[in-house]
Amino acid sequence: MTTTLITGANKGLGFETARRLVAAGHTVWIGSRDAERGRRAAERLGARFVPLDVTDDASVAAAARIVEAGGGLDVLVNNAGIEGRTAGNGVVGAAEVTAEEMRTLFETNVFGTVRVTHAFLPLLRRSAAPVVVNVSSGLASVTRLTDPADPAYGYPGVAYPASKAAVNMLTVQYAKAFPGMRINAVEPGFTATDLNGRTGTQTVEEGAEVIVRMAQVGRDGPTAGYFDASGPLPW
Ligand SMILES: NC(=O)c1ccc[n+]([C@@H]2O[C@H](COP(=O)([O-])OP(=O)(O)OC[C@H]3O[C@@H](n4cnc5c(N)ncnc54)[C@H](OP(=O)(O)O)[C@@H]3O)[C@@H](O)[C@H]2O)c1
Repeated sequence: MTTTLITGANKGLGFETARRLVAAGHTVWIGSRDAERGRRAAERLGARFVPLDVTDDASVAAAARIVEAGGGLDVLVNNAGIEGRTAGNGVVGAAEVTAEEMRTLFETNVFGTVRVTHAFLPLLRRSAAPVVVNVSSGLASVTRLTDPADPAYGYPGVAYPASKAAVNMLTVQYAKAFPGMRINAVEPGFTATDLNGRTGTQTVEEGAEVIVRMAQVGRDGPTAGYFDASGPLPW
């Protein structure tokens, strides 16, 4: 039996990934910073709930103890993330971005990924087939954001692409350090969720596809890669 933890799984892509992995036979832990939302999501899916705020050391440490007591962990999906839009659903561009804005996004998207991965590493190292999926973004690709022919080129935000580019680098460095694990970054594609005020053009079913696939890679599957649903992406 494969046991999987998904951070930020009370809604959006994390919830849909949880739904699919439960259907595939995984024992799934729904990580949620809000107990009520997390418990409700877990009940709907036949999953387990664990309180988990990726920005809080104590919360993450407590979650690791709960999952360890529950029998350990095989698959970690670092999904919790924020884009940091304005109240009017605007993207914060280069003229407006501040160090504080950067810090907020990095605290969740980057330091959160490190905090959770670090806390769960001892459990993953005890698994026979450990897997980590870091939910990145197509906006992390320096190649794409510097290609005027690419639709991502025109995205004006600074903090979000920078944070996801950092997630890509984390992916590569962790993957090299732990060759026994399969550790990959994925780009779900522009998906209608609360993150972007539901402006995304894909459904969560489409967006979760690559997350679900990379959560199920076998011991001979790829590692240190960056993928969307149709294959490898340029860094
Ligand atoms: N939607 C897209 O187009 C798109 C494209 C590329 C990549 N992504 C990535 O996909 C991932 C999932 O995003 P989504 O689109 O599904 O957005 P979403 O519906 O807003 O879901 C984000 C999830 O992250 C959780 N979260 C935020 N901060 C957290 C924290 N400090 N601790 C724990 N959980 C936290 C949220 O919890 P609350 O409910 O408590 O806020 C929510 O469960 C993110 O990493 C995002 O960057 C999304």
